[in-house]
Amino acid sequence: MKAEVLGKFKELFGAQGDIRCYFAPGRVNLIGEHTDYNGGHVFPCALTIGTYAVARKREDRVLRFYSMNFEQLGVITSSLDDLVPDKAADWTNYPKGVMWAFEQRGLKLDAGLDILLFGNIPNGSGLSSSASVEVVTGVILRDMFGFEELTNIDLALIGQKSENEFNGVNCGIMDQFAIAMGKKDYAIFLDTSDLSYTYAPIKLENARIVIASSNKKRGLGDSKYNERRAECEKALEELQTVTDIRSLGELDEKTFEKVKDAIRDDVRRKRAKHAVYENQRTIRAVDALKANDIRKFGELMNASHVSLRDDYEVTGKELDTLVEAAWEVPGVIGSRMTGAGFGGCTVSIVENDSVDRFIEEVGRKYKDTIGYAADFYVIDVGEGAGVL
Ligand code: GLA
Repeated sequence: MKAEVLGKFKELFGAQGDIRCYFAPGRVNLIGEHTDYNGGHVFPCALTIGTYAVARKREDRVLRFYSMNFEQLGVITSSLDDLVPDKAADWTNYPKGVMWAFEQRGLKLDAGLDILLFGNIPNGSGLSSSASVEVVTGVILRDMFGFEELTNIDLALIGQKSENEFNGVNCGIMDQFAIAMGKKDYAIFLDTSDLSYTYAPIKLENARIVIASSNKKRGLGDSKYNERRAECEKALEELQTVTDIRSLGELDEKTFEKVKDAIRDDVRRKRAKHAVYENQRTIRAVDALKANDIRKFGELMNASHVSLRDDYEVTGKELDTLVEAAWEVPGVIGSRMTGAGFGGCTVSIVENDSVDRFIEEVGRKYKDTIGYAADFYVIDVGEGAGVL
């Protein structure tokens, strides 16, 4: 892949100068959904698919961008003096947002860049193609401008800031963190209240992780993502009238049940319930995995989906069809939606011998019910972002 992106870069922008290659993965979250902006835990891992980037500094302040995924858009030109969100700038709002966030941190960019990207994460699939672009941009800027003091966690935070403040999506830290900090064959158990984390090995001897993409496109901006976040914030405020908590992640189920009537609206109470229970489920799931109890882990994944479907209401017909079909296949250890929801992907743990049957049966039921096909990816857990 490196040779291909490099070749295309040289063809478009010329072969001269100091040209460098980078990669940032996509991510899949195994459990802990919609907990990261509620001070809870998440358990994502990096994928081996992601965003390849080639970059070179310029002598002026011009920015030239090209994506091999959007060839019809051609080269999109901008400038370091024009780091403002603009619909017409299309996908380049993601790298530009990161450049803006660097400058906001006082990290001055003193030269323009030519940047070419190629991503093999399906766009809008809920595997964090946008966070992958953000983090790879951070890696480029750190390397090209010599900001060695920035850690990968800094790059994750910068990516999140750009998404929140430049691209208008109030996302949590999970995606950028998983992409920046991923480790081959490990998932990251991250406490989003203080960014403490540990790596847990994903050694599924007899099983594989299978992602099913619903092919229902979703953009976080036009989804109900920000609305869910606001509902949780309001529920927290109501709970704070009777308890001394800073986030929903500080409550266990028992305490929540005692104080939940302070939330004056049924819908908000369900949203908060999901955030609290999902966080506790995530903690338990990681304990189960550490104890090699993969069955228990799978049951908790299934319970996570039910809660996202009934209490958080972010699944929808496509994801429910995929998950419910998966639950019927013998050899499926657990299956749930992953990411923001409202479309995107499911993640399932499937015994090796059942993978073909899983793809065949879930694929068929999905097509019969929804009318178009799903795509399946048997994935490996990869490394976080870096120089290639
Ligand atoms: C999106 C956001 C994340 C997280 C998930 C839901 O992927 O970017 O921060 O909130 O949704 O768990």
